[in-house]
Amino acid sequence: SIDAVIFDLDGVITDTAHYHFLAWKQLAEEMGIHIDKEFNERLKGVSRMDSLELILQEGNRQEDFTLSEKEAMASKKNEHYCEFLKKLTPKDILPGIRDLISGIKADGLSIGLASVSMNAGTVLKALDLESVFDFCADASKISKSKPDPEIFLTACKGLAAIPNRSIGIEDAEAGVSAIKTAGMYAVGVGSTLKKADYLVNATEDLNWNEIKEAFQNWCLEN
Ligand code: G6P
Ligand code: MG
Repeated sequence: SIDAVIFDLDGVITDTAHYHFLAWKQLAEEMGIHIDKEFNERLKGVSRMDSLELILQEGNRQEDFTLSEKEAMASKKNEHYCEFLKKLTPKDILPGIRDLISGIKADGLSIGLASVSMNAGTVLKALDLESVFDFCADASKISKSKPDPEIFLTACKGLAAIPNRSIGIEDAEAGVSAIKTAGMYAVGVGSTLKKADYLVNATEDLNWNEIKEAFQNWCLEN
């Protein structure tokens, strides 16, 4: 049986992954560093400061700044990002997500959130989804960002769910790794997430009955 379903936020529930990319791109370009969508795959699920380090590495600039300069850069990125968030409304919930949530709720299962974003609360509020989650594991509750399993394990604990009876849903490579290391069943959104147990191209392809069936088969094999 299933204990809980735990969602990533950015790129799964809403397309804020794209806003993170645009905000980083703006900051990177100000420093003469070019980043594209392919590079951005490596930033998904990664904390703000770790993302900045990856971008500086990409431009061979990692030795050029002091910690306080880096902190100023990270807050500048966040200001760009928050500008995008002002436009966010419940219409920005990705296709298929409402039906998925209804299906999980109809089965009486707990729903959790696992996002390292310090803006997770603001995003959920803008989408009017705060009441959906029984427990949110966020940046304040963890010390290690994905691919470390800490955030998913924290969410399982908060929901009193056993990891190998729980499902995680992710759009990031780092996120799928975190789910697998936690011992959970991984649903991946995005065709490149080869390590996921169940893979769909886009959120509109998430079908609760099919996921449940695939999960039951996985349980029999494991
Ligand atoms: C999520 C996103 C990342 C983002 C991180 C921190 O994991 O997938 O792209 O860098 O949250 O977000 P924050 O809002 O705290 O800068
Ligand atoms: Mg994500």
